[in-house]
Amino acid sequence: MMKSQINVRRLFLGCALILCACSCLRASPAPPTDVSITQGPKGRLTVKEQSVLQIPCVYQLPDLLRQSNSVTLRWRKDGKTLRLAELGQASSTTSEPQLETLLREDARLTLNKETGTLHFASVLASDAGVYQCQLLVEGQSAISSGSGTLEVIEQLKFMPQPTSKNLELGSVSKVHCKAQGTPVPQVKWMRETQLPLPANVTDHNGTLIFRGVTNEQRGQYTCFAANSQGQISATVSINVVVAPKFSVPPVGPVEVSEADVAVMHCQATGEPKPTIQWDKDLAYLNENNTDPARFRLLENGTLEIHNVQAEDEGRYGCTIGSSAGFKREEVLLVVRSNKSASNSIVTRIIIVIICLAFLYFVLVLGLKLWYRYRRHMGKVQLDDAAHAAADADADGHEHAEHEPCLTEANSSKNLKSKLRESTILEQESQVADDIV
Ligand SMILES: *[C@@H]1O[C@H](CO)[C@@H](O)[C@H](O)[C@H]1NC(C)=O
Ligand SMILES: *[C@@H]1O[C@H](CO)[C@@H](O)[C@H](O)[C@H]1NC(C)=O
Ligand SMILES: *[C@@H]1O[C@H](CO)[C@@H](O)[C@H](O)[C@H]1NC(C)=O
Ligand SMILES: *[C@@H]1O[C@H](CO)[C@@H](O)[C@H](O)[C@H]1NC(C)=O
Ligand SMILES: *[C@@H]1O[C@H](CO)[C@@H](O)[C@H](O)[C@H]1NC(C)=O
Repeated sequence: MMKSQINVRRLFLGCALILCACSCLRASPAPPTDVSITQGPKGRLTVKEQSVLQIPCVYQLPDLLRQSNSVTLRWRKDGKTLRLAELGQASSTTSEPQLETLLREDARLTLNKETGTLHFASVLASDAGVYQCQLLVEGQSAISSGSGTLEVIEQLKFMPQPTSKNLELGSVSKVHCKAQGTPVPQVKWMRETQLPLPANVTDHNGTLIFRGVTNEQRGQYTCFAANSQGQISATVSINVVVAPKFSVPPVGPVEVSEADVAVMHCQATGEPKPTIQWDKDLAYLNENNTDPARFRLLENGTLEIHNVQAEDEGRYGCTIGSSAGFKREEVLLVVRSNKSASNSIVTRIIIVIICLAFLYFVLVLGLKLWYRYRRHMGKVQLDDAAHAAADADADGHEHAEHEPCLTEANSSKNLKSKLRESTILEQESQVADDIV
């Protein structure tokens, strides 16, 4: 009995000593009594979301310290520094708070240096937490206020807002509706505004589940969220669609000759009916970048290119699209250049050669004919000369003197040379014949 009493007493003494030592150690750089926080955050503070809030931190500071630039005011949230401000006169310029708010993206929160008050322009749910303000004096331990807990009453709201949906026919689909608020709201769906949900559509805690979407399920659905704050609702349209599908996909490669017609088909089904858009090498074809005389987009989706040119070659894509989605298929167009067209220079050269040969032939023939004519004329002259000579022998020289050409042909020498000349002509025309 006695022993245990002594033990208890020793234990008590030990504890007291330790406590004393602790408090002595803590107090060793004793803060001056004239630095203090007289009013700070404490207890529970409950505010509504989006309201304006000020948490005070009233402090006392001797003017000497205030001017020395060595005191810092610090606000902490959940043990982490939220805002800092130096209380010295030198730093109390008007630009500093602006700079501070710029550096800290969250401009909702400002710290008033003169009063120490933390100011919330609009409280958010994320602002909830434990707040404390502190004075940090150089060379001394921190002077802390008590701590206060901020509670935020969340406004009842959809997060995110439910949106209208296109559901694929026959698919299993979900439509979400989530609400936030304090207290946690109840969420439920209705057809229109008060009808029960259609068959095979169920509501799992705010998520609509469609098992095998049918056309009958399309329509308006309303999501309700309610708690003690009240009730909110959001109406969305549920549309049933069929994703576009190629009924006639473009097939290729399509090969056409230059100047021919290229035909590429593209047809699609879907609900709503998909539109068809052609592109060449990923650039959409429209009235501005195509020649309307050559490019024709038919009602049924077929693309016709008339009088195909070499530069039309490329990848042609057909995109089918609707609110239910889109798909693209590609086809290669190959333009064959016509042999004759590609060898046109050779063709021209051949034509020129043929023309030249023909001209040469005509020339030679002409020459030949001319020489023949000349020879014929020569013969006639010779005959005439012969006759004239005979006449001259008979009638004397007077008659012959009247015709100058006959004077030349008078002598038989001249006659002989005339004959020789005609033989040369004959030979020449023979040569011409041989060349041809
Ligand atoms: C509900 O789904 C089942 C099975 O998928 C089907 O047999 C039934 O016809 C559907 N009911 C309606 C009203 O669509
Ligand atoms: C319903 O959803 C809420 C959140 O919106 C969640 O807290 C709760 O646990 C869910 N209940 C069920 C039964 O799934
Ligand atoms: C074609 O050009 C006209 C006038 O420049 C313009 O108004 C029109 O929108 C263009 N069309 C396309 C499909 O780009
Ligand atoms: C589209 O119409 C054109 C002419 O009207 C026809 O030549 C072409 O074959 C049609 N396309 C299809 C895929 O039937
Ligand atoms: C190219 O050949 C095709 C037939 O192969 C013909 O229809 C077309 O007219 C020709 N084009 C030219 C420029 O000769």
